[in-house]
Amino acid sequence: MVFAMETRLIRVPDLGRLGQFRDSEGPSKLDEWCVLPVAKEAVEALRKAGEYLRCSDIPVAFPTETVYGLGADATRSGSVRGIYSAKGRPSDNPLIVHVCDLHMLRDLLGKQRDDEDAIPSIYKPLIERFWPGPLTILLPNPEPSRLAPEVTAGLKSFGVRMPSSPLALSLIKLADVPLAAPSANASTKPSPTAAQHVKDDLDGRIELILDGGSCQVGVESTVVDGLCDPPAVLRPGGIGMEELQSCPGWENAVKAYKDHSEEGKAAPRAPGMKYKHYSPKARVVLYEASYQEGVDGVTSSDASSLHATQDGNTHPTNGFLKKKVGVIRTQRWKKGAGLKCGALHPETSDTNTHAQNGNGEQFDTTYEIFKGDLMNGNGEKLGELFDIHLGQDTRRIAQGLFSALRDLDRRGIDIIFVDGIDGEVDIAAAVMNRLRKAASDIRA
Ligand code: TXA
Ligand code: MG
Repeated sequence: MVFAMETRLIRVPDLGRLGQFRDSEGPSKLDEWCVLPVAKEAVEALRKAGEYLRCSDIPVAFPTETVYGLGADATRSGSVRGIYSAKGRPSDNPLIVHVCDLHMLRDLLGKQRDDEDAIPSIYKPLIERFWPGPLTILLPNPEPSRLAPEVTAGLKSFGVRMPSSPLALSLIKLADVPLAAPSANASTKPSPTAAQHVKDDLDGRIELILDGGSCQVGVESTVVDGLCDPPAVLRPGGIGMEELQSCPGWENAVKAYKDHSEEGKAAPRAPGMKYKHYSPKARVVLYEASYQEGVDGVTSSDASSLHATQDGNTHPTNGFLKKKVGVIRTQRWKKGAGLKCGALHPETSDTNTHAQNGNGEQFDTTYEIFKGDLMNGNGEKLGELFDIHLGQDTRRIAQGLFSALRDLDRRGIDIIFVDGIDGEVDIAAAVMNRLRKAASDIRA
């Protein structure tokens, strides 16, 4: 297929004032999302995008609190197929359905007996605690279903979540249909956490990108299945295992996804987890937090391999002046990650990093980036070093991770060394899961 559309980026500011749930307290608090007539221009832009989503078979990119999604009317086959072709994504991988409120979700689940709620009780504590937010639950797909069969890729269940971004909620409400939306990256690339990332990947392939600034969470939602016993986490994400396990009925929840060390033993249950993912063009070398040799930075053997020519000899000829090395630092490494280098000077990142969350609070996802000469032991220049520090805090690391990988790709980096974090708890599990998928080499 030939794609040659003009891709427009539409800024939608004022997120905090776009809408709210009717009756903000009590058990029915998520029943209905209401768009408020305050931020007129923003609402008008969303109304037009909503109409477009209802009629067009070309998806619309929009921000959520996790990553940018590529949305389409989940009830029409034509529009859902539009997602697969814009992304270049295999169609055996089911899509997450996004709803703006419980009213819309119950509509999808069909009629029950009057005294019965269509939402299984196992999910009630999760919905109460984590929605709207970065949690996707699996529900039985009723027969007949309003969802286009392409959404579930032939499975008997569908994944659904209620995002917390007021922009996303208002867009869904104004479209008046649930939106199927995978992350808005080209298949296998890191997920987009800013509108520009979407443009970099999908320019000419879609017409509309709604720009709501940076995403606050930075990694995708946690996908859980409460229909099996014990309940299972199919993909780690914005909500950590211990938070889930603190909910009634979820105390014994198990991890049902594979990290690199376990891969190949059995087919993963979330079909999307089997593909190569999140990978920039550069080769990514991941240092696990447990790898003692890497406490202070890149090991001398990895460092000396940077000096090697194609034939394995080590001599710094002009051919290697072009070598560009990236470092992503988190909790352990100091500036330069132990590599021999000249002075490192601050650089600016070109992605918009300011945004507003669902409560109208400002936040920014800026990280530090430095640039300098990469040297060999004799003080000769081998190439360039780009050093990104995501910070110590796991939430900040998650926020900046995909952006950092993309930032280094744009600068034409050949190889990226990443300082891993202890991936056992909270959002760190999602960070390490994504990094292990992005990595060509893992030092453990
Ligand atoms: O945060 C997110 O979840 C983002 C934003 C846009 O909402 N979306 C996202 O979608 O990450 P996607 O399509 O890139 O990932 C969906 C994941 C895949 O791993 C897929 O296999 C799994 O959810 N999934 C969806 N429906 C499923 C189902 N019925 N059974 C098992 N896994 C399912
Ligand atoms: Mg994805």
